[in-house]
Amino acid sequence: MRDLLSISDLSVAFQVQGRWIPVLREVSLQVGEGDFVGLVGESGSGKSVTALSVLRLLPPTGRVISGRVTFRGQDLLGLPDTAMRKMRGGRIGIIFQEPKTALNPVFSIGFQVAEAVRAHRRVGRSRARAEAERLLDLVAISPARERLDDYPHQLSGGQLQRVVIAMALAAEPDLLIADEPTSALDVTVQAQILDLLRELQSRLGLAVLLITHDLAIVAETCKHLAVMYAGQIVEEGPTADLFDSAAHPYTRGLLTSVPILGRPTVRGKLLSIPGLAPDPGDLPRGCSFHPRCSEVMERCRLDEPQLGSNGPGRGSRCFLTAALAAEGPGSRREIS
Ligand SMILES: Nc1ncnc2c1ncn2[C@@H]1O[C@H](COP(=O)(O)OP(=O)(O)OP(=O)(O)O)[C@@H](O)[C@H]1O
Ligand code: SF4
Ligand SMILES: [Mg+2]
Repeated sequence: MRDLLSISDLSVAFQVQGRWIPVLREVSLQVGEGDFVGLVGESGSGKSVTALSVLRLLPPTGRVISGRVTFRGQDLLGLPDTAMRKMRGGRIGIIFQEPKTALNPVFSIGFQVAEAVRAHRRVGRSRARAEAERLLDLVAISPARERLDDYPHQLSGGQLQRVVIAMALAAEPDLLIADEPTSALDVTVQAQILDLLRELQSRLGLAVLLITHDLAIVAETCKHLAVMYAGQIVEEGPTADLFDSAAHPYTRGLLTSVPILGRPTVRGKLLSIPGLAPDPGDLPRGCSFHPRCSEVMERCRLDEPQLGSNGPGRGSRCFLTAALAAEGPGSRREIS
């Protein structure tokens, strides 16, 4: 499938007390047309910074050090500001965790969705209002016509997130970047919003990059997964393959905390991996995961593993995987 969004070797640093701290290290990630890709990892692993870098929304203290981001082959990092502003909320829709911050409390939801339509399409007010009704209907705010004049405070958190999704869809985007879109919602509503994203993806042919710290969420939603740890992608591949035979010890640790595997856990808390992720300003030498890895070898403390292929569409950043992949397909069973 042709890549819609392509992130290649993206490295980003933040200036903290006069020092540049690396927070993304050679991140590569592809999202194909109509694809549903999950980006998962613990808090602080660099998921949001990846999204913000793609959208060119890094704060002034953050800087892209190297790498390339393209959207339909167009270089996003080199795009003039005006073209990038059109791209954001245009071809690339964005949904963040807290829907309230994306909505203005003093305007009705119908007005706000209609304004989102008018921001990207040349239509008059009445056409925009009709389009807002269609979009609210699409995200199952019903009966849409009667809800147009509702104000944000009249809606629940889940309904507000639906309105935000309707606003993101107003520009008929090709890609939706959703950063923890359901973390502020309770579990039942989370499932409804994920169902909606999945439905929109298949109905509209939309590509979705779903960012979350919760593997249970991506398990049933995403076709492809990328796992982040300490600013790097440490494993990627088709979701089913990763759940079936994760190669990287970190992914395997994450998987033991997923409720669907029947292990005891507190939702969203990664109980199974002892220790804490490293401070980006004080990364351990060698493999960043080595202080927490149950399979650590002497080499891991000295050298940094590269992301190597370990199957079709798969990659893992671990010396063990590289060694087993070199031995041939029969040896993969040992690491699953
Ligand atoms: N403005 C900033 N200045 C300095 N460091 C920052 C800044 N924003 C983020 N970072 C650092 O960058 C790293 C990645 O942060 P990021 O917000 O991308 O994590 P995340 O994976 O999205 O985590 P969460 O699941 O908590 O949202 C963290 O170590 C964070 O402390
Ligand atoms: S390279 Fe070594 S420390 Fe890193 S994940 Fe693999 S086995 Fe563990
Ligand atoms: Mg984040």
